[in-house]
This record gives sequence, structure tokens and C-alpha cells, in this order.
Amino acid sequence: SKGNHRHFMEKEIHEQPEVISHTLANYLDFSKGRIRPGSAPVDFAKIDRIAASACGTAYYAGLVGKYWFERIARLPVDIDVASEFRYREMPLSKDSLALFVSQSGETADTLASLRYCKQQGLTIGTIVNVRESTMARESHTVFPTLAGPEVGVASTKAFTCQLSVLASLAVAAGKMRGTINEDEERQLVRELSEIPRYANQALRLEPQIEAISRDLSQVKHVLYLGRGTSYPLALEGALKLKEISYIHAEGYAAGELKHGPIALIDESMPVIVIAPYDHWFEKTVSNMQEVAARGGKIILITDEKGAAASTLNTMHTIVLPDTPEIIAPIIYALPIQMLAYYTAVFMGTDVDQPRNLAKSVTVE
Ligand code: F6R
Repeated sequence: SKGNHRHFMEKEIHEQPEVISHTLANYLDFSKGRIRPGSAPVDFAKIDRIAASACGTAYYAGLVGKYWFERIARLPVDIDVASEFRYREMPLSKDSLALFVSQSGETADTLASLRYCKQQGLTIGTIVNVRESTMARESHTVFPTLAGPEVGVASTKAFTCQLSVLASLAVAAGKMRGTINEDEERQLVRELSEIPRYANQALRLEPQIEAISRDLSQVKHVLYLGRGTSYPLALEGALKLKEISYIHAEGYAAGELKHGPIALIDESMPVIVIAPYDHWFEKTVSNMQEVAARGGKIILITDEKGAAASTLNTMHTIVLPDTPEIIAPIIYALPIQMLAYYTAVFMGTDVDQPRNLAKSVTVE
């Protein structure tokens, strides 16, 4: 039931601190500051690369995972949307891990990609929310997300739980591959353990985000920009907005702005910039300057350090607490979900059952 929430989506957004906490506890031993032995039963030291695929929001989670695996474990990740992957007949090495991400475990294209990789003799690992799903059954290794049933068609808590699993696996892989030592493992585990606390703080921004959403519900087009791990968040923000509010939105890597989309910028199209104060921040700010110089209206989502460092005039600034870099994509998902949610509420759309969409896409 929705309890005292207006929509399942709102309820599921608010469940995130708790379900992320359950999910993390499956992989991390908080008291020892270690990856739980046996929680990632793949010998990452023997794997040469990861071939990942998924659809929609699960694909964006995988894209964030790519940044983590490559940075923390020095493990290269090829990732593609499953509808392309399944027909590409990509040359695959048997020493690669085939990794799939799916809430339902039933998505037709992702399942077909999984079966293709299995036929090619790869080890199959799947991050999945529904334990008794087809993908879970057909995988060698299941990495569960413990999000509980997700009812809203727009994925929210499944996404942040997928990210939590991917971050934990990247740390496990780093440990096995010797790219991080025990101190670094302990430090990363401690940072991951703080996600629920930061997520609760992010939820407190709800009244401000609701007010900003009133403005957003008046516009026809929205552009989302981000760099590094914020780039997949920009894609996810745009997807979430278009699927439930029907407002046209695009997500771009901030550095791609000048290669085309900058032509769209005028005062009628807000630009949502996702920019925690990380090692990409300065670059993203210079892209924001290009937007501001063309009269673009900026909604900046950043942290306290970022808000202090940015000298730009923004239409709105959403200020999250300063977070460790590894957890930022998980925390920044919340304001992005709330923006889409409240904008859709102002538009009066059917938030939990958007037109033309199904919760589980079992046909290609
Ligand atoms: C977007 C959304 C979809 C799903 C996609 C994959 O909010 O929910 O993009 O993420 O259809 O579904 P699963 O994860 O069930 O494979």
C-alpha cells in the first residue's frame, strides 16, 4: 500500500535510506570495515574486462558502475544498451565477466543479451531485484538488490540500490586485484556506510525541490548536464522527467555541450547542472559559464563546497551536504527523482502509471 503517500513513486523515493542500508549490509561488514567474504563470488583478479548491458535506468546505473570499476579496480568495462548488445555479435573473451543489471529480471533485451553471453561461455553475473526472476535463474552469480517490490513504473529505489551494489562490487574487485589496500578498503566501506545518512539529508530538500518543480512544470524543454559519474545522472534525470511529466528533456555530457546542443540554449530552456565539488567540478563550471553567457537559466545541483566555489548566477541552487566522492551519484539521484516527481504532480500526469509505459518490458 501507499501508506500516507500520494503515489508509490513518492513512497519509494522515501524508502531509499532504508533499502539502501539493507542492500549494503549484504555486501559490506560495517563493523570490520570490510567487504563481506563470499558476497562477491567472482574472482575479479582473473577477469580481463566486464561486458555489461542493461536497459533504461538500469543501463544508467551500469554506466556509473563503469566509472567505479575502471577507477577503483582498474578493470575496463564495455557497456551497451541491451537492445544493441544482443545483435552486435561482439567478440567476447571467455575471461570476461558478463554483467547485467535489471530490476525485474525479465526485460526481453537484457535476457537475450544474457543468453548470448552464456552461449559464448562467459561467466554471467546479474544485479537483480526480483530473486525468482528468469535472469536470476539463468545467471551463475546473482548480486541481489534488496529494494523490495518497486511498484511505480519510474524506477527510483531500484536504481540507487543497483548503484550501491555496483559500488560495493567495484571495491571488492579493487581488493582482489590489489588496486586498493586494506586501509583504502576500510575507508571506502566507511564512506559507503554513510549513504543512508546523506540520503536522509537529501530528502529534507523536498520543500525547495517542490517549489523549483512548479517553475519546471511551465517549460517545454529541459537540458541536463554532468561530467564523470554525474554524466549518467544527467541521462537519468532527463529520462525520469520525460517519462512521468512528458516534458522533453535531454541529458548530455557537459563537455559535449559545445558540439551541438548549445545551439538550443535560450532563456526558455532551463539547464540542470549536476556538479558535486569533485575533480570534474571546475570543468563543469566552465561549461555552465557558456550556458549563462547565452542567457540560459541554470539550476545547479551541487554541495556546500561547490556552492561556495561557483560565482555564477543561477536561477536556483540545490545544495546537498558535502559527500565523499564515491557516494555522490547515489545521493544526487534523490533530488533528480524529486524534481521529476513534483514536476509531474504539477502537470497532473498519472505518476505511477505514465502513458504508454509498462513496468516490465518483456517484448523487444
Ligand atoms: C525508467 C525505467 C526503465 C527500466 C528499464 C529496465 O524509470 O524504469 O527504463 O529501468 O525498462 O527495466 P529492468 O530494470 O526491469 O530490466
